[in-house]
Amino acid sequence: MTEDDWPALEKWNSDPEVLYYSEGDDVSLYTPEMVRKIYRGVCANAFCFIIEADDEPVGECWLQRMNLDWILAKHPGKDCRRIDLVIGEKDYWGRGIGATVIELLTEFGFEHQKADMIFGCSIWDFNPGSQRIMEKAGYELYHRQKLEPGRKGNYELTMYLSKDKYFKDRD
Ligand SMILES: CC(C)(COP(=O)(O)OP(=O)(O)OC[C@H]1O[C@@H](n2cnc3c(N)ncnc32)[C@H](O)[C@@H]1OP(=O)(O)O)[C@@H](O)C(=O)NCCC(=O)NCCS
Repeated sequence: MTEDDWPALEKWNSDPEVLYYSEGDDVSLYTPEMVRKIYRGVCANAFCFIIEADDEPVGECWLQRMNLDWILAKHPGKDCRRIDLVIGEKDYWGRGIGATVIELLTEFGFEHQKADMIFGCSIWDFNPGSQRIMEKAGYELYHRQKLEPGRKGNYELTMYLSKDKYFKDRD
């Protein structure tokens, strides 16, 4: 991902249908200023990528240093990361790209970055596809949080994969 990617990132972050699935709260638009702030902030602690298909940008993803204190507190001294992704071009949903992206980011995280644990966070029950792509790559349930009434979903899931399980599954 580079500073040339703002048009695509702005398009995906102003599509209410994409944001319905990617955000836990009711967000229908991020302004261009907010988009720059979000991605510039994340990139300080993450490898951020554009997902391409048919030579076109179709989505974005990152492998980020874990930023949730409640997870870090449980694994002192461990290198914990998290994966997030959005396929912003809806014509490309359901074609196996999400599953491939998770596989590639996971390989990058464990084999290149030598992470100890990788997490998938903010997976909501109204987005079964996001849970399934993590499961396909060997991730397991780490935590299930019941959401307060009035929120968009009923549960928020956190999934994880350890280095040991990754290399065992791979062999
Ligand atoms: C969720 C998302 C990442 C999934 O990626 P995708 O490329 O569409 O999914 P894939 O084609 O790789 O599908 C992988 C698996 O999930 C299943 N799946 C995908 N979407 C699904 C859905 N809406 N309901 C149930 N299962 C679904 C597929 O059937 C497939 O399982 P299978 O191989 O056992 O048949 C993508 O649709 C997306 O980016 N959506 C909008 C933003 C978003 O939700 N981001 C994730 C936030 S956590």
